[in-house]
Amino acid sequence: SKPSDANLRSPICCIMGHVDTGKTKLLDCIRGTNVQEGEAGGITQQIGATYFPAENIRDRTKELKADATLKVPGLLVIDTPGHESFNNLRSRGSGLCDIAILVVDIMHGLEPQTKESLDLLKMRNTEFIVALNKVDRLYGWKTCRNAPIRKAMLQQSKDVQNEFNMRLDQIVTEFKEQGLNTALYYKNKEMGETFSIVPTSAISGEGIPDMLLLLVQWTQKTMIEKLTYSDEVQCTVLEVKVIEGHGTTIDVVLVNGVLHEGDQIVVAGMQGPIVTSIRALLTPHPMKELRVKGSYIHHKEIKAAMGIKITAQGLEHAIAGASLYVVKPDDDLEHIKTAALEDVESV
Ligand code: GTP
Ligand code: MG
Ligand code: NA
Repeated sequence: SKPSDANLRSPICCIMGHVDTGKTKLLDCIRGTNVQEGEAGGITQQIGATYFPAENIRDRTKELKADATLKVPGLLVIDTPGHESFNNLRSRGSGLCDIAILVVDIMHGLEPQTKESLDLLKMRNTEFIVALNKVDRLYGWKTCRNAPIRKAMLQQSKDVQNEFNMRLDQIVTEFKEQGLNTALYYKNKEMGETFSIVPTSAISGEGIPDMLLLLVQWTQKTMIEKLTYSDEVQCTVLEVKVIEGHGTTIDVVLVNGVLHEGDQIVVAGMQGPIVTSIRALLTPHPMKELRVKGSYIHHKEIKAAMGIKITAQGLEHAIAGASLYVVKPDDDLEHIKTAALEDVESV
């Protein structure tokens, strides 16, 4: 039978790229937050997750007149560090996603961790779009706050357009050297073969509507099967953290299925599998970053896809990167513990 639109989970999108290309700032721009300025040294050092409800995406893309095309409940975006020492976190983030945004600084072109990110995406055959960020740094750029990129381009002088085209051509050539065809998304006639480039500014918001719409449309068009909600829980631990008032908690990404308060769970731990039950299921408010301390919403149950903070007893030695298993009444606990043990070796 054909999966019904009503039963889709949110696509998971991972944002990757070289350090300081503007990954976190792009998310700040969509969220209306200031996470980046609160980071030590302006460097992301953890994986983050933010949920964007469909209504916010609809609002942010309305100038592109594509209202009717939103079928997914929202978009879950995973932020990753670009600094070279965090390859494991980039790998973990990209392993969870349905689609990725590869961010490239238009003034710098492809850099070492751009290439490393590309290798991760190629290895897993992950679809991605390129955000060609910092267009506002082109000399003489005229701000068109939050405008679709074509509208913003039309406002620019010939000199700005020439500099843009020159830098774009250069970067398309650099991608070619990596074995990839890329093109400006609105000139791309062979999506899927040729990767789409969306020019953006995380400071003034040009191109953000295009980037959001492209992500949602592309996932809806090509990944309906993968995005169909299933009862089978698929869940990964991102971080293990002590939170005042909650003890040791784990931040997880629920890729598919549903979690309930009280569920018995198994997670790999440094001293063997941890068997415990969910005390509280917490999420930040929509459009807020999971990795930033704030107020949490308590849930009785949560359906995928979502970034969730779980509180439970005995999580002190949980291992980031491991899978989280739910023990159902008919499941064999020993069997699940063995699976969790095997995880430890692969993390
Ligand atoms: P890591 O997570 O540490 O890899 O960096 P990042 O890719 O998340 O970049 P971040 O958001 O930390 O931005 C790095 C710097 O670039 C900050 O000073 C931002 O203000 C600046 N920046 C990001 N995007 C833009 C942009 O579109 N235009 C301009 N002019 N500056 C930007
Ligand atoms: Mg960052
Ligand atoms: Na940074």
